[in-house]
Amino acid sequence: MLIKTRKSWHLTDRDVTPEKLYLNRRAIMAAGGAAAVSLTAGACSAEEAQTEAPRGAMPADGNLSARETAYMPPDGDLTPLEAVTGYNNFYEFGTGKADPARHADAMTTDPWSIEVTGHAGRTGTFGIEDLIDFNALEERIYRLRCVEAWSMVIPWIGVPLGPILQGFQPTSDARYVAFETYFNRSEMRIGTFPVLDWPYVEGLRMDEAMNPLAFLAVGLYDRVLPNQNGAPVRLVVPWKYGFKSIKSIVRISFVSDEPPTSWNRSAPNEYGFYSNVNPNVDHPRWSQASERVIGGGPFARRDTDMFNGYADEVAGLYAGMDLSENF
Ligand code: MTE
Repeated sequence: MLIKTRKSWHLTDRDVTPEKLYLNRRAIMAAGGAAAVSLTAGACSAEEAQTEAPRGAMPADGNLSARETAYMPPDGDLTPLEAVTGYNNFYEFGTGKADPARHADAMTTDPWSIEVTGHAGRTGTFGIEDLIDFNALEERIYRLRCVEAWSMVIPWIGVPLGPILQGFQPTSDARYVAFETYFNRSEMRIGTFPVLDWPYVEGLRMDEAMNPLAFLAVGLYDRVLPNQNGAPVRLVVPWKYGFKSIKSIVRISFVSDEPPTSWNRSAPNEYGFYSNVNPNVDHPRWSQASERVIGGGPFARRDTDMFNGYADEVAGLYAGMDLSENF
């Protein structure tokens, strides 16, 4: 018998918010300028939300409400929720796209803490509630462009990364920030021939991490992140290939040298440290000039944009660098 360990606030396949309802909510809010209050099933009023969820607390009912930001929304339709939560890469739970949705429920995400180490004034172990104010979340609609040449447009909910990192008071020796994913072999489906070394690790240069586009997501489609999408907190770096968006973060380290990254370690000729979305630099085995639009039908494709459409905001970070060498 299958014993469900899912928390009541986790998204299930049956209680998904249809994107039509979601878009309707957005239309209502745009018309009325109303405060961002979720109209999804089971949602409560803003006052109730405040009494039920004190500052910093993960909401017990799984509903999240965010300030509407419409922060540089990309062109293209939102990807249907079923695809966002059913077509995933989370190799700790298998290499098939449907594996994470099937198996990631086994991951324990409550309680959750993040260890902060390295060149910073404030290090130690912090509960997620100490780091993220669940009553001051933003919504950001970003395209996730996977290195496998497919993409999705996802309404993320979370907080900008920069201010969180600043809160740890990084010193001038902190030139990079490294991230690590939770790892627990007993909860994960690591095959006999794992593709990657564990735990999954990623990193950013400090100025990249401080860019206002870099985001820590705790939800999507007005709900707490499902496990397969990286619950309870994952990185979203919208101008980089999706694999930079490390899931289920348990460690943040401020370091002076470029940190190792999982995909670069496994295939350095295919995956560089920077991994900026770049239609002009192909992966050695396939083109990066265009991408399959997940959820858009079998033939839906679009041309890939430089820096995934955010060149105005991030091209300056790489001024003077040869992006075919620093891929
Ligand atoms: N994080 C961990 N810990 N393990 C992974 O396998 N896969 C990466 C990234 N983060 C991965 C990960 C890849 S390759 C992609 S494309 C995105 O997560 C996919 O995010 P999604 O499943 O939420 O769409």
